[in-house]
Amino acid sequence: ASNGGMKMEKTLAMIKPDGLRGNYTERIKGAIVESGFRILEERIVELDEDRASRFYAEHSSRSFFPNLVKYMTSGPVCIMVLEKQNAIADWRALIGPTDSVKAKATHPNSIRAMCGLDSEKNCVHGSDSLLSAQREISFFFEEETESGVVNSV
Ligand code: PPS
Repeated sequence: ASNGGMKMEKTLAMIKPDGLRGNYTERIKGAIVESGFRILEERIVELDEDRASRFYAEHSSRSFFPNLVKYMTSGPVCIMVLEKQNAIADWRALIGPTDSVKAKATHPNSIRAMCGLDSEKNCVHGSDSLLSAQREISFFFEEETESGVVNSV
């Protein structure tokens, strides 16, 4: 089949605590579906300090790490598995740059421009590579469910 050589992929998307608090979930899901992704899984979870630290382990030496963990444990998050051709790069493109201030300036139609505030409160997460996507999907959907799960959709 001629599909431009693009592979069907799955990626992990997350709506962060501020996205949920600001009631952006339906708008974000609208953008996801309009952009051709299928939402294969969806779940609301509350991360505790241990789980947030493990999820972001690769950033553990960064100065912002304690703030990142504090933010990510400040309320429920919505995790989704998205599927589409080229899903990993396309979801990163749709969310825009990490810093929402920059997103508003350079990617005004991105999700982070719509609902993010800065580099911490940037509304959404997306896996940055095939390896990250596989790790992050199994982190949430193949590990045993823990007490952190507050709701299944
Ligand atoms: S880097 O340098 O490219 O590895 O980092 P980056 O992709 O920009 O950011 C990695 C994640 O760390 C979060 N982040 C921050 N949190 C709190 N405070 C500050 N200053 C900060 N800077 C970056 C950022 O939101 C990224 O989270 P995810 O969920 O991966 O998008």
